[in-house]
Amino acid sequence: MSIDPADLDRSGLRLDIDDSLPAGCVATVTLNRPQRRNAMTPAMWRGLAAIGAGLPGRVRVVVVRGAGPSFSAGIDLRMFSAEGVPGEDPLPRADDPGFEQWIAACQEGFTWLRDPRIVSVAVVRGHAIGAGCQLALSCDLRLLADDARLCIKEPALGLVPDLTGTKPLVDILGLPRALELCLTGRSMDAREAGELGLAELVVPAADLDGAVDDLVAGLLTADADAARATKELLTQAQGHTLDQQAAAERSSQAALQRARLRR
Ligand code: ACO
Repeated sequence: MSIDPADLDRSGLRLDIDDSLPAGCVATVTLNRPQRRNAMTPAMWRGLAAIGAGLPGRVRVVVVRGAGPSFSAGIDLRMFSAEGVPGEDPLPRADDPGFEQWIAACQEGFTWLRDPRIVSVAVVRGHAIGAGCQLALSCDLRLLADDARLCIKEPALGLVPDLTGTKPLVDILGLPRALELCLTGRSMDAREAGELGLAELVVPAADLDGAVDDLVAGLLTADADAARATKELLTQAQGHTLDQQAAAERSSQAALQRARLRR
């Protein structure tokens, strides 16, 4: 599936694919509505899903970042007003029989970031609120500037976080801290996010771009097939017993090395 840059532009997204690194191809997805602090609309989520569906197979790392001072201020709050967002369909009513299916389509903008063929990295400057925070949580890794602030705002607005953020939140933080964060709606600073494991790295804002380059280069040092198989293994580990995981390691190693012998 090809990705039309004009469609992406209309939905507030930009996709840059960099083939210049010898170790592998890197895609950068930029939320590109800085004048609205990268507020998100369903069209943007569909655009993200289209990027995931059409991503060239050679891409090994996907960097997700926001243009301007914020990563994302979450859903465009005008969606909840009678006027809505120009050019956007109104939100469906909850008693519409297709309501859950509509949410499923929105979630597709977030789920592809877990695909084992890629490693996804959220690069967060400034605010990541609500849907923006869930997007950062959907990435495998998070690199935060020291001015980053994470906030799950949905319950304060009478919503549940439904863009696939609740699982990584509980996996990383555990239930009590995840509950506290969601229900208080408080804003967590970068230092605390780093201490609690929500960020792999926190750096001064001025050093962010260099830190992204270093992290991406580091990720690309792994053999591409081994990286994919390792991500698959690690992703399964939490749901497995030790015996199940040991068996998964054996079969993954056998598959990887047999494929190598066939080459
Ligand atoms: N939806 C629509 N417009 C937004 C949003 C949003 N979520 N966030 C910011 N904007 C707009 C502002 O209205 C403003 O527009 P204007 O210049 O036409 O007045 C512009 O973006 C800049 O916003 P400021 O508030 O001036 O920027 P600042 O850097 O001071 O603050 C912040 C940024 C903290 C993100 C603030 O804008 C904010 O709190 N936004 C709302 C966040 C929110 O509640 N999101 C919903 C979360 S729930 C969910 O995502 C499901």
